[in-house]
Amino acid sequence: MESISVGLLGLGTVGSGVVKVIENHQDKLMHQIGCPVSIKKVLVKDVNKPRAVELKPEMLTTNVDDIISNPEIDVVVEVMGGVEETRKHLLTALRNKKHVVTANKDLMAVYGSELLSVAAENGCDLFYEASVGGGIPIIRGLVDGLASDRITKIIGIVNGTTNYILTKMTKERIAYEDALKKAQELGFAEADPTADVEGLDAARKMVILATLGFSMEVDLEDVKVTGISNISEEDLQYAKRLGYTMKLIGIAQRDGEKVEVSVQPTLISDSHPLASVNDEFNAVYVYGEAVGQTMFYGPGAGSLPTATAIVSDLVAVMKNMRLGVNGKNIVAPQYEKKLKEPHEIYSKYFLRLLVKDEVGVFSNITTIFSQHGVSFEKILQLPVKEKGEAEIVLVTHQASLKDYEDILVKLRDLKSVHEIKSSYRVEGNGN
Ligand code: NAP
Ligand code: HSE
Repeated sequence: MESISVGLLGLGTVGSGVVKVIENHQDKLMHQIGCPVSIKKVLVKDVNKPRAVELKPEMLTTNVDDIISNPEIDVVVEVMGGVEETRKHLLTALRNKKHVVTANKDLMAVYGSELLSVAAENGCDLFYEASVGGGIPIIRGLVDGLASDRITKIIGIVNGTTNYILTKMTKERIAYEDALKKAQELGFAEADPTADVEGLDAARKMVILATLGFSMEVDLEDVKVTGISNISEEDLQYAKRLGYTMKLIGIAQRDGEKVEVSVQPTLISDSHPLASVNDEFNAVYVYGEAVGQTMFYGPGAGSLPTATAIVSDLVAVMKNMRLGVNGKNIVAPQYEKKLKEPHEIYSKYFLRLLVKDEVGVFSNITTIFSQHGVSFEKILQLPVKEKGEAEIVLVTHQASLKDYEDILVKLRDLKSVHEIKSSYRVEGNGN
């Protein structure tokens, strides 16, 4: 091979990072793959837009066929985002025998199995390291590093934007909207940040991790998702007081043959390492039967960190080209998907209630919990003097999701419970 030609779909935050990493690390790339890597064409929406990198004007195009049907291009790097249109482009690229590297979790969480099988049929590689955890090599760690083990649990922070927002709200008491704006300016957020703050971006990443980790085709609809947009300043302060830190946590757990996958704001014990993962950083714990506990940590979003994952995928494609084994490492899931029922999913919960401040209310509430066999780890009762109301904050011991949901229904029916202010999953012990 004289050189490898790359076509880039997109030249935004990640695309410009890819251009920089390829330019700045050309020597290292040459050494690893034995020939230069050159970017031939770049797809954008607007060729006149100012860019973070300087490219010859003739390299930019608004016609995707200049890349996906261009016989001179070996590898298509997709960093434009979007699902339906992008799926069509990548299917065409693969059928035209082009290897594909993508950072697109929205696409891989929904059409991953289709794209991977078309890639294999056409003897092409399809790599997507940058789709989860930004610059952290979590996919390779899970698929190759832990290939010999049986993974039982994957838990962590997989969205940089929400971790940045929660860090700023907790540590600097910056308002939610201001922290989100800053995360957008820094290039961490999706084009539409609703996917970040409502937990969907993290859910897509958990679909990818659970599918790979459990070798089972997990779908987006299987993930129970709650975002961070309703978290109040009071919740963050209560969490602090009880010895916890609020994080948006993705959990994928396998017990026997059954799995659960969820993304939700969670109170993490301050002594747990995930509590000190701040700003746009991500961290994922992977538990295996033989290895025990492993932790992957690093920048979860941003231009250069994400670009390093993409260029590492490019190196993997090129090494496979030299060995003539492209498309040969795609393995279909081994197990049929079996999801846990709510009575099989266990956790501790934080609950904040606004109640009538009168005798007997507390005992009515505790009676409901004891009817379901759920006991308390912590309880705080604080009067809200002006309105004759009190606030009750409690943390339960382990309870099944079924029992907890039934308890919430019964609490809502109690006249003395004026409002369920908030409820979160809890990991670890607080103070
Ligand atoms: P971005 O800054 O919005 O860049 C998107 C680029 O794609 C722009 O250059 C845009 O062109 C081009 N584009 C979008 N739609 C197009 C279309 N229909 N036709 C032609 N060009 C189009 O997005 P980004 O932050 O780089 O993210 C790109 C992808 O990487 C997304 O899938 C995202 O989820 C993923 N990702 C992002 C990060 C991160 O930290 N930002 C991390 C990991 C993964 P113009 O410039 O002309 O508008
Ligand atoms: N918007 C995503 C995040 C980008 O904040 O984590 C990285 O996938």
